[in-house]
Amino acid sequence: MDKSSNAHQNAAEKAKTGATAKKAMFRLDNKVAIVTGGASGLGRAVVELFTEQGARAIIADINDARGAEVSEAVNALGGKALFIHTDVTQADDMRAVVQYAEQTYGRLDIMVANAGIVGTASTKILENVEEEEWGHIIDVNLNGVWRAFKYAAPAIRRAGGGAMTSTGSLSSRHIVSENFLGAYTASKFGALGLTAYFASELFGDDIRVNCVNPGGMLTNIYESAGWSPEQYAAWKKGLEDTLEQGNKAVFPVADPREVAMAHLFLCSDEASFITGQSIDADGGGFVKMFSAGARSVFGS
Ligand SMILES: NC(=O)c1ccc[n+]([C@@H]2O[C@H](COP(=O)([O-])OP(=O)(O)OC[C@H]3O[C@@H](n4cnc5c(N)ncnc54)[C@H](O)[C@@H]3O)[C@@H](O)[C@H]2O)c1
Repeated sequence: MDKSSNAHQNAAEKAKTGATAKKAMFRLDNKVAIVTGGASGLGRAVVELFTEQGARAIIADINDARGAEVSEAVNALGGKALFIHTDVTQADDMRAVVQYAEQTYGRLDIMVANAGIVGTASTKILENVEEEEWGHIIDVNLNGVWRAFKYAAPAIRRAGGGAMTSTGSLSSRHIVSENFLGAYTASKFGALGLTAYFASELFGDDIRVNCVNPGGMLTNIYESAGWSPEQYAAWKKGLEDTLEQGNKAVFPVADPREVAMAHLFLCSDEASFITGQSIDADGGGFVKMFSAGARSVFGS
């Protein structure tokens, strides 16, 4: 039997263990997970959900105040979370956080490469985006995923296998709006290809690699756009109003926890047969947009 068949058999066995049937459907007992961008929004929801399911989480983020707040909140509820200042644009930081996981817990099982920004590039058309703005968004959203997976893979291999996910976007596969998302779209298309490629390189090591593509979510992501406080407040109010309409909204907005569920599934042994894939967690936003377009041509 070759290496890859063995690896899959191991994963399939894990999915069938008695523990799966006896305990919660998704469980991460004894797993150690790093979550980049874990101090806010979707990353925070992933940290909360994973620790509720028994994982020990390491929050890898540049926002020290929010990182400390999330770890305190999780620990107060009996979960296990630690914050380590980590900038995904810095190789030394990524190396250090992986090393920290192994030194502290003796292993690393899961990497969630979630940190992402829209950046100031998201206020202009592509031809007006400056070199520095372009470089920064690519460095966080694309290179940051590469660094997370690159430095985590050997540690997860040493632990005997595990799972990695990236956070993409509907902008990983579609042009979803003309709302100045050119640089963001380029970074997210790239990160999706990278995720699938890592899956192809790592399946023989029992390391599954998948992507979650959120639609709209109520988070702090537009803080990185450099908007005025008034613009930011108007954007947030629009999302809050849409969130209240639930999936009935034309373009639904999620509570980040709804999207974190997809990361949980893909990082659990229940997803033992799934690698190199992406899940759109968008409340039907894309099909509704497509349907609205079709209706405008064909009528309802
Ligand atoms: N909010 C949405 O509508 C939406 C939609 C689709 C995809 N996404 C994706 O979801 C992911 C999470 O974003 P969010 O919406 O929760 O935003 P958020 O701003 O609430 O959280 C992102 C976190 O990433 C951190 N971060 C930024 N740069 C970093 C760096 N260099 N190193 C480490 N951490 C860094 C921030 O400090 C923040 O805590 C991103 O990849 C984003 O592209 C968001």
